[in-house]
Amino acid sequence: MADDGLKCVFKGQTFEAEIVRSRLEDSGIPAMIQNNSLSAVFSSYTYTAGDVTVMVNASDETAARALLADRSDTRPNVMRTFTKVQDLGDMDLALREAFEIKKERFKFSELGKNRTLLMVFFNSSLRTRLSTQKAAMNLGMNVIVLDVNQGAWKLETERGVVMDGDKSEHLLEAIPVMGCYCDVIGVRSFAHLTDKAEDYEERILNQFIKYSGKPVFSMEAATGHPLQSFADWITIEEHKTVKRPKVVMSWAPHPKSLPQAVPNSFAQWMTYVGYDVVITHPEGYELEPEFTKGARIEYDQMKAFEGADFVYAKNWSAASAEHYGQILSIDRSWTVGERQMSVTDNAYFMHCLPVRRNMIVTDDVIEGPRSLVIPEAANREISATVVLKRILEGLSD
Ligand code: CP
Repeated sequence: MADDGLKCVFKGQTFEAEIVRSRLEDSGIPAMIQNNSLSAVFSSYTYTAGDVTVMVNASDETAARALLADRSDTRPNVMRTFTKVQDLGDMDLALREAFEIKKERFKFSELGKNRTLLMVFFNSSLRTRLSTQKAAMNLGMNVIVLDVNQGAWKLETERGVVMDGDKSEHLLEAIPVMGCYCDVIGVRSFAHLTDKAEDYEERILNQFIKYSGKPVFSMEAATGHPLQSFADWITIEEHKTVKRPKVVMSWAPHPKSLPQAVPNSFAQWMTYVGYDVVITHPEGYELEPEFTKGARIEYDQMKAFEGADFVYAKNWSAASAEHYGQILSIDRSWTVGERQMSVTDNAYFMHCLPVRRNMIVTDDVIEGPRSLVIPEAANREISATVVLKRILEGLSD
């Protein structure tokens, strides 16, 4: 870049500066990013929490300022809903933003001032409840938590039902009412595992999106758990030693019938970011192909584990139309233990928690030095902060 006197045309966060620089360069205006704290130009892949500037030649300053006058598309991926990996947009930016927030998690504590998050739980939670509330607090938001099954009117969810039973209120009134009291809504609503079509339509979550009038994000719905997968991805990026690690997701036995939300999302996210993904399970536990596209399916668990860098254990019930929601196996030879981990490449062990010890994983593996279950849970605060921040940025339009 010729130096005829540099001029600053943008000051902000690293990931925003990257977008600004790309816009300028795409328009033929050479630009570079300067780290003010170091007074030096740095790599575009450096994760830094401090403000940086975008510099152009003095002769380009007027053109650059004109180009940037419409700032709308310099704002990275503001969101209205968050239900799937594609909602994050540019994944490199999302990851950089996550690392920036992890370094300085209160940096945006003014963003949520006088904004209210409503968290609606149709099902139990420990991590999602605490981490999402903490994320909202990081951003300066007020938080309301509604446990639908504890203290609220029992809700009818079907249209056309004569409400002469124990359900006092219909979801179609309750949702817009909830929307009156908040700016953003998080919803947890698990699959019922009786009617596949209903679960895979994401009926409850989509009704919130349609009728609340507010931005809505999933805190685990019937078919996906994107906040968990985002945290899992951050955790793998923090620990991987090769660019494209081998990530093995293994079914493991469980005494109760569990939804496919976590394995669906994990498969979707890990293939989307380009890892070498292998899914292993007994026959009959195939997940919907829309989530596993790009992954290899291996029915021999030991073979699947060979050379793995990361092992992600999870139970799920059958997803096929024929056996939807059923437990087809409780074979404890699938419990992840030293036998399986010994054929990996010293793999890290992962699980979203809560986990049933000695059904899903042995005590020794989950307590071992390669277990990442606590860092994954810690990163739930980071994934939720990124998502809420982006939604809040969309509100200020
Ligand atoms: N992993 C997870 O979502 O945990 P909770 O069910 O406790 O929220």
